[in-house]
Amino acid sequence: MSETVLLVGGGGREHAIARSLADSDATLYACAGNRNPGIVDLTDGFETLEITNTTAVVSYAEDVDATLAVVGPEAPLAAGIVDALEDAGIYAFGPFESDARIETDKAFQRRFMQNHDIPGCPDFETFEDVEDACAYIDEYDGDLAVKPAGLTGGKGVKVIGDQVTTEGAKEYLRDSDYDRVVLEERLVGEEFTVQALVANGQLRVTPAIQDHKRAYEGDEGPNTGGMGSYSDASLELPFMTEDDYHEAVDVLKATVDALDDYRGVLYGQFMLTADGVTVIEFNARFGDPEAMNTLPVLTTDFLDVLVAARDGDDLPKLTFESRATVCKYGVPAGYPTDPESGAKLRIDEQSAGDATLFYASVDERDDGIYTTTSRSFAVVGLGETISEAEKIAEEALSVAGEEGLHMRHDIGTKSLIQRRIDHMKELRN
Ligand code: AMP
Ligand code: GLY
Repeated sequence: MSETVLLVGGGGREHAIARSLADSDATLYACAGNRNPGIVDLTDGFETLEITNTTAVVSYAEDVDATLAVVGPEAPLAAGIVDALEDAGIYAFGPFESDARIETDKAFQRRFMQNHDIPGCPDFETFEDVEDACAYIDEYDGDLAVKPAGLTGGKGVKVIGDQVTTEGAKEYLRDSDYDRVVLEERLVGEEFTVQALVANGQLRVTPAIQDHKRAYEGDEGPNTGGMGSYSDASLELPFMTEDDYHEAVDVLKATVDALDDYRGVLYGQFMLTADGVTVIEFNARFGDPEAMNTLPVLTTDFLDVLVAARDGDDLPKLTFESRATVCKYGVPAGYPTDPESGAKLRIDEQSAGDATLFYASVDERDDGIYTTTSRSFAVVGLGETISEAEKIAEEALSVAGEEGLHMRHDIGTKSLIQRRIDHMKELRN
């Protein structure tokens, strides 16, 4: 039977999902708050709607007779989109609202790890009172990471000794109106992501990726949703060993075992420290940009995974092309603190050369494509080595039109990778 898939979300990650399903035996529809021209091109129908409005999404899913749904971003998961689709008899690949708390509630996430003895949990405390949290900051011997418990688009965390001073952290808490915060030990090391596709008690893991959270080159500036990312031709990254990768996979396995019948993507963000692999956070969905590294090298039909998940079958084994990938984002000037939205994008898709172009949070109108307040587009290069992939991505960036946009040209470069390797070597000595 041919499937009809509804894709929920309109960013770069969802463009990558759409592309990975485009050659499968499925009719594809999508809905999002912004009209993403890349997704529009790959689908039989695209509806602009508020994707946290579960009634509207279910209604569109019913209109198109969807036999499956895939949810990209966290906001609709937090709004209970999977529960709502399930109630309407439509299987969605993504966690129910209560399971999505592994991402949407960082206090829940840490307590969950503690209660289930999941390895890699840092020291932490949770607070509901700002002054209690400030007192803890004063008492604590060492640096802390200050994390609002709820969703902040990856932009809410402040690390003492890195982005803020002790006084700055307290000021941040007093000035913001977060009702719950987590304070946890500052982890020092190199960050990496491992994502797993999960259903029917099984998980299938994907290669490690390193994202770049900071807005500016050299890892300076404010945190963003992610400026770009790379993966190697092997499962691990140049600064880590195969054992480190497997340690991360073991954390994901223990988490899936502890979560009762989780389904969807389980995304682990890890810090490789001198003492091993530690969990920075879990997400309940593909990473963005990470989906743009993973899906282009996935040779298993993604639709087969979705269908097996829905039908209660064994998930197919995943296979990947042994190719390195480098993804670089173009974001509006001023992003993330003061992004200039509403600028007309001049992207020449044909000039992407050997790279693949993914549209992100842009909006297609009658007279062109416009930026929003979030990331605009990404280019992804594939190569035998990270350097080769980087050159392909970089060439595409320069022709995609940089006017009014900002990008990190250092992502995936030899010198940056060498810095990561040296950093880990230094910590492990
Ligand atoms: P998150 O929103 O949890 O992904 O955090 C955003 C960023 O804050 C991460 O990518 C890390 O760079 C940093 N971060 C979060 N938790 C910690 C921690 N315990 N120690 C050091 N850095 C952290
Ligand atoms: N790349 C980080 C995230 O998707 O949250």
